[in-house]
Amino acid sequence: MLTEKNIGILGGGQLGKMLCEAALPWHLNIHVLDKDQNMSAAPYCTSFSSGNFKKYEDVMNFGKGMDILTIEIEHVNIDALFDLQRLGVEVRPRPEALVKIVDKGLQKQFYQENDIPTATFRLYEDKAAILKALDEGEISLPFVQKTRTEGYDGRGVQVIRDSADVGNIVDVPSVIEELVDLEKEVAVMAARNASGQIESFEPVEMQFKEGANLLDVLICPARIDRSQHDKMLEIGEKIIRALDIVGVLAIEFFLSKEGKIYVNEIAPRPHNSGHHTIENNQVSQFEQHLRAILDFPLIKPKDHSPAVMINVLGEEGYIGRPFIEGSRNLLKTEGAYFHWYGKAETKPYRKMGHITFLAEDIDHGLKAAKEIRQSLKIITKTPT
Ligand SMILES: Nc1ncnc2c1ncn2[C@@H]1O[C@H](COP(=O)(O)OP(=O)(O)OP(=O)(O)O)[C@@H](O)[C@H]1O
Ligand SMILES: [Mg+2]
Repeated sequence: MLTEKNIGILGGGQLGKMLCEAALPWHLNIHVLDKDQNMSAAPYCTSFSSGNFKKYEDVMNFGKGMDILTIEIEHVNIDALFDLQRLGVEVRPRPEALVKIVDKGLQKQFYQENDIPTATFRLYEDKAAILKALDEGEISLPFVQKTRTEGYDGRGVQVIRDSADVGNIVDVPSVIEELVDLEKEVAVMAARNASGQIESFEPVEMQFKEGANLLDVLICPARIDRSQHDKMLEIGEKIIRALDIVGVLAIEFFLSKEGKIYVNEIAPRPHNSGHHTIENNQVSQFEQHLRAILDFPLIKPKDHSPAVMINVLGEEGYIGRPFIEGSRNLLKTEGAYFHWYGKAETKPYRKMGHITFLAEDIDHGLKAAKEIRQSLKIITKTPT
């Protein structure tokens, strides 16, 4: 065996599942903590524990038995992670880094303090403070309101465009950010092992589903120029080092219409923008994460070909036991790699799976993705 160490993952959704899959060839001891046995990762781990990763006791009880503890989601009980670290469990990424990431306000301040380009922002305690700032001209329309904590997949992010939108401002501690005129959004996945080796994957382009703020189409490699490419890798490596992160780190960038690069946000775990690496790279983001947290040598990422990835989302108007409509077309498409997460229930826009298309060029990949998108629907047998 490469290692007898017990590796714990907080969270057993699709990212946890794909981490478990990456661990299978090496027969690693992988243990998962999440709600119940219906979670995506449950059938693929060495052991599954039911519990709430946001609860101190549950994380402590689970984590005490582990040598290494990692996450598939950053919204976990960080107090427990600090205590487990004190008890000698290797928590990767470190809880000190998570503290700075889960609060978007602290995350933005980290960029500011480290000279990392990010959209201009201010922090406010509540709606009254935002209205006052607007009134006094400290901020101006349009802007983006982001809740400081607990936001993900676009929940907790809204554009306040004009005075008609002002009523929608949410009454929570917020980051108020300038609205960037976006040319495109790009993501870089960096990895760092405990010995300090760093390797980055090629930047990819992310196109978002309008209105849902969910990744819709991913294009690999990103169509950016060399200097932008190099700058993004450099910024990613600077961040992973500055936060002393062991594991993978996704860095989401904005590229503005003027050609400026801003860091939007980061996620210290495998990420939707790296799913194509499973079939399209010498090393997948999931295997690289395991290598990093085990302090094994990292592999230098290298893509095999251009690729396009789409998320398979629950169709609007359907809630319940999922049914895949149009799978024949998908199954006969060469170069299409289908991942189904095995979730018990579909909901509008819920991430139910993904498909990676390897292609001779990006246009062919986009065409194949478009065709499948038209025929494949995740519905239920009984419309709601
Ligand atoms: N300042 C901004 N200017 C323009 N667009 C923005 C801005 N901030 C956010 N957006 C848009 O909203 C999307 C979601 O924002 P952000 O990444 O901060 O939220 P999120 O909830 O953490 O999403 P996820 O967790 O899925 O990455 C961005 O990908 C981008 O399309
Ligand atoms: Mg985001």
